[in-house]
Parts: sequence; structure tokens; C-alpha cells
Amino acid sequence: MTETKAAQQVAADGQALFDQLISEDSRIEPTDWMPEAYRKTLTRQISQHAHSEIIGMQPEANWITRAPSLKRKAILMAKVQDEAGHGLYLYSAAVTLGTSRDELVLQLLEGRAKYSSIFNYPARTWADIGAIGWLVDGAAICNQVPLCRASYAPYGRAMVRICKEESFHQRQGWEILYELSHGTPEQKQMAQEAINRFYGPALQMFGPPDADSPNSQQSMAWNIKRFSNDELRQRFVDMIVPQAEALGLSFEDPDLKWNEERGHYDYGELDWSEFKSVIKGNGPLNSQRLKRRREAFDNGAWVREAAAAYAKRKAATDHALVV
Ligand SMILES: [Fe+2]
Ligand SMILES: [Fe+2]
Repeated sequence: MTETKAAQQVAADGQALFDQLISEDSRIEPTDWMPEAYRKTLTRQISQHAHSEIIGMQPEANWITRAPSLKRKAILMAKVQDEAGHGLYLYSAAVTLGTSRDELVLQLLEGRAKYSSIFNYPARTWADIGAIGWLVDGAAICNQVPLCRASYAPYGRAMVRICKEESFHQRQGWEILYELSHGTPEQKQMAQEAINRFYGPALQMFGPPDADSPNSQQSMAWNIKRFSNDELRQRFVDMIVPQAEALGLSFEDPDLKWNEERGHYDYGELDWSEFKSVIKGNGPLNSQRLKRRREAFDNGAWVREAAAAYAKRKAATDHALVV
């Protein structure tokens, strides 16, 4: 058998096993054969997800020094650290697909990679920290719980821990808003304005409408995605409407009402032109977010150099001990 023929045989056997594992709803491990398109899609999705966790630290980190009490500062600091941890698990999962972490980070720093458009919006008031926790982390949970069963095993495993932590994040956001909405009229007003700002962008976190989301079909066929963008968005709306009622707040959406026939809440058309513009880099804070990330990366260069020098020296010492 020639070398090309042998390679073709390996690919055919690999594809057959891959198809079987997917049809059985089993999992693909990093050492398994997988189609290039599957590898590429996952590398893009997982690394974008990692970038979102890392960039997402910025709007909240800006509020650590201004949080209204020591307890609030401690909680917010822990949440921001959780997000850094999520970024790290996800970069580790992405690296198992064959692209180095250095390259993935470079894609972000050079503006070649996307991250969730929600993080290009500012956190203007303390109530925005509540709205981000409740609505942004809440939307993330709706999106991510089904990803715990994603066919690519390292991604699914990372998502299990991430989802547990996201539940805390959502609760702390809801609790901030609960305190404000049961405080002075000014505090309640601040909470209402925060959710007015985040309602639309949070609903857009599920991505474009199904008819406008050409890659979703393939991701569903590969058992990466389990529900469509619109299904997940609907699930989220159905969850947050009663929660908003419990807060004594409401959403600024005249079309938002219970539909008896469908057994779901109807909601208004979202501003997709704004969504596309933010994705293209024209959101309120796109350039500032990337600038900060580049500065943080440059400021951390000495830490990376010191860690690499230490690892090298330790490896040499360990080797000398073994010999
Ligand atoms: Fe997170
Ligand atoms: Fe979170």
C-alpha cells in the first residue's frame, strides 16, 4: 500500500469511528481521529469562549474599588477571579485540539479573534454589576448548561465546573438588584435603568436568529450544540420574566407578554443592526477593551519570563537528581 493510500485508509477508518461515536452520543477525546472541520469549529468556539471570559473581567474589575462595602468588594473580586479561571480551563481545553495557547492569545491581542459582544458595553453604575450578574451570567448559563454534554469531552468537562460557578454569579447579581429595588426610590430607579440597558444585549448573547445562523445546523449534527439560538433565547426570556417580577422591576419591551397558546413569553424584535456593528468592532468599548488586554499582557511579560526560567531550572535540577 502506498503512503497516500495508507493515509486515506486511516482517515476512512477514523471517520467511520467518529460517525459512530457521534451517533451513539458518545464523546470524542483529543487522541481520537476527528474531521478537520470539527477540530476547526471547536478551536474557534472554545477559544472565543475563553477570550470572552478574560475580556469579561474588565467591566466588573472596574467596579472592585467602588463596590459599596467590604463584603461587596470581596464577592466581586471572587467573581472576577472565577472568570479568569474559566478562561484558563477553556484555553486548556482548546489547546488539546492542537493550537498553542500562545497562538490563541495572539489571535485575541491582534484583533483576529472574536469574543462575546456583550463585553463591549460599559458598566456605568453599581446596579449594572447586578444586571451583568443576573442577565449576562444568566444568559451564559442558559447557553452553557447544554454544552456540558458537548461531544468534545474536554469542553464538556470544563463546562461542568464553569456552570456551577456561573450559578453563583447569577445569584449575586440578582441579590444586588433585589437590595437596590427594595431600597430608596433612587436606588430602585438605578436598578431599573441598569436592566433597561442590559435586556437587549443579553438576549443577543444567544446569537442571531436561527434563520440567520448558517453554522448552527452543523454544530447540532456534531452534538456540540443541543438547542438552536432561538430556543435558548426563549428559555432565557421565560426564566427572567418571573424573576424580574420578584424584583419589582420590568423590562422595557412593549411586546413582552405571556402567550397562552405557545406556553411561552413573546418578546419584541431585537436590534440586530446594533449587534452586527458591535461584533464588527464598533461597540462602545471595543478598542478600549483590547487596549487594556494588550497592556495587561505586556505588563505580565516579566511573570511569564520568570515562570519559564523557573520551570527550566527546575527541570534541569530534577534531571540532575534522577541521573
Ligand atoms: Fe464565566
Ligand atoms: Fe460568570
